[in-house]
Amino acid sequence: MKKRIRLHQLRTGMLVTELEWNGSAGTAPALPLLISSPLDVDHLMRAQVISVVIDTRRGADTGGAGRYAGGFSHVQFETDLLSKFSAREVENARQTIENTAPHVRRMLSDIRMGAAIQFEGASQTVESLMAAAGQNSAALIGLSRLKERDQVTFLHSIAVSALMIDFGRSLKLDEEAIHLLGIGGLLHDFGKMLLPRAILNKKGTLTEAERLLVRSHPLRGYELLKRAENMPQTVLDICLYHHEQYDGTGYPRGLQGAGIPRPARIAAICDVYEAMTTIRPYKRAWTQSEAIGFMLDSPGHFDPELLQNFVSRMVVGGVLA
Ligand SMILES: [Fe+2]
Repeated sequence: MKKRIRLHQLRTGMLVTELEWNGSAGTAPALPLLISSPLDVDHLMRAQVISVVIDTRRGADTGGAGRYAGGFSHVQFETDLLSKFSAREVENARQTIENTAPHVRRMLSDIRMGAAIQFEGASQTVESLMAAAGQNSAALIGLSRLKERDQVTFLHSIAVSALMIDFGRSLKLDEEAIHLLGIGGLLHDFGKMLLPRAILNKKGTLTEAERLLVRSHPLRGYELLKRAENMPQTVLDICLYHHEQYDGTGYPRGLQGAGIPRPARIAAICDVYEAMTTIRPYKRAWTQSEAIGFMLDSPGHFDPELLQNFVSRMVVGGVLA
């Protein structure tokens, strides 16, 4: 059967038989094309291919799209996890979250009590996430997609940290840079802890005053982290600039393009992806494919080269299941 799909839906083993191509950039690949590695998708993206037609009788089909799009059940969630990971991988990931969660919860409640963040504590937490990365981080990110009401903040922090570690590894950054990305991912939203809970948990639309208060969280977090001894500039940059947008329409400073520190551009992608794919039992979740489709359709929001790398190395490359 012939099926038209977007590039981010391509997986290894698919056979591309037709292309929708704007024809002005790069070289169109010869057809039919068997996708044998993420590099093939990278090539199609660089050639500005818009969509492709795959032949599902002669190659792999899309699958899994649409999960959680309707209702939700814990059984379905567990079954889905076990279809992608071994029971041991899921158990290891669960263990990593259980070991890390108390430290993150303590840091979060310390902030609410007005205490300063200890850099060493955050650094150690990220070291255990780094040790888990490469072995069970995909399972960890998958497992942390499901968030009950009281788990949203700390699981988001842990998952964004793990995502940034993996993305940093896929970009072949050195271990020190990856460590800083992990700490930045863990602490990027801590400024939210200084906002009233009623606003963070509000179900309806925020008033203009509430919206401005929420938008103050990067600056509040930055000021909080700055008080900590030895807090590296990269971590401060991630916290302050993770809501900046590539075209200058973000906040708090409206920085543009390369004027936004690269670690913060990496954080913006991981933060939005993680938030969009989060499954909440009481709310419809975005599938991975929908989230990536939306991000690709948001020109100006993200660094285009980093987003392309995220899609080809993390999504198509199978780091994220
Ligand atoms: Fe944020």
